[in-house]
Amino acid sequence: MIDARGRTIDYLRISITDRCNMRCGYCMPERLPDISHEEILRYEEILRICRCAVQTGIHCFKITGGEPLVRKGAVDFMGSLKKMPGVRRVTVTTNGFFLKEALPQLIRAGIDGINISLDSLDRAQFQALTGVDGRDRIMTALQAAVSTGIPTKINAVLLQETKHQIVPLSRLAQDMSVDVRFIELMPIGCGKTKKGLQEEEALSFLLSVYPDLRISGERRGKGPAVYYKSKFLRGRIGCIAANTHKFCSTCNRMRLTSTGFLKPCLCYDEGMDLKTILRSGGHEEERLIRAFRLAAERKPAGHCFDERDKITEWKTMNQIGG
Ligand code: GTP
Ligand code: 5AD
Ligand code: SF4
Repeated sequence: MIDARGRTIDYLRISITDRCNMRCGYCMPERLPDISHEEILRYEEILRICRCAVQTGIHCFKITGGEPLVRKGAVDFMGSLKKMPGVRRVTVTTNGFFLKEALPQLIRAGIDGINISLDSLDRAQFQALTGVDGRDRIMTALQAAVSTGIPTKINAVLLQETKHQIVPLSRLAQDMSVDVRFIELMPIGCGKTKKGLQEEEALSFLLSVYPDLRISGERRGKGPAVYYKSKFLRGRIGCIAANTHKFCSTCNRMRLTSTGFLKPCLCYDEGMDLKTILRSGGHEEERLIRAFRLAAERKPAGHCFDERDKITEWKTMNQIGG
């Protein structure tokens, strides 16, 4: 599907739950709004939406949350999605806490990639950031994920307080075949109140350790990361610099929230209520396809992170799915 600005839309990020067992300050609010069970799409409903998405040319799917693995049946759902005719790629972004136990099933489901969020390797800081004493557990899951051969990446949000973690985190790409991506903090939801770091500063730390670090020019997945390589590294360093290197002109995606709202852009609350279409009966498939096309037609040119009063999205990242 081509949007009004000539961008090819072939990637859908699906949040299957807004719940999470962790409480990262830039993502999850302390208290979650009460959402009744009926408001959340059933897996069977998400699959029906995906069948329509495929017909519009969307072939790649990212499963996110909150934390996707806290929802019962998540991996079976990923397996069903992967089997759907026309689906090329299904990947998951997780905090890693329940990952190790899920790996055998994820392999059987044919998952194409695993991204693990990890902002600090320091046990105490990890707990302070997430509210969970889980650093060792995540590291064990990371090693297990890498050993399956499924392409594995780490997501580290660049925070003022984790500056000293940039180099230690990058060493993971030295020790194992994993990509370590540094993400500029985005002013969405709780991200508005935290202090982030720019890509440039992260790169200056990294260049002091890997002086040959240079852009590799590779595409590794469907995301906006720019990858860097060095002879000292087995994996790659990635940077997702939404603030300082806006990538909206090449945007390829839309988002589906767990309550069935289709979002053409991260930054704005406009979109299509697919749940109502789905549950109203009568030519739903046709109407869902039309809704996807309309969302693409109305997709904004890009975010307005530098003009905060123009950001209309009020939902938090755990509801949007990152
Ligand atoms: P893969 O590399 O294919 O796994 O995809 P990805 O990088 O899109 O996946 P992931 O879920 O790990 O997202 C990494 C970071 O990129 C998160 O912080 C997302 O919020 C951010 N991100 C993903 N898509 C967008 C987008 O459309 N706009 C902006 N501004 N940020 C995005
Ligand atoms: N800015 C940047 N990245 C964020 N994430 C969550 N909130 C933000 C934010 N405000 C990241 C998580 C996870 C991914 C899905 O999104 O760390 O890795
Ligand atoms: Fe696409 Fe909007 Fe993200 Fe920009 S901010 S990359 S337009 S979804």
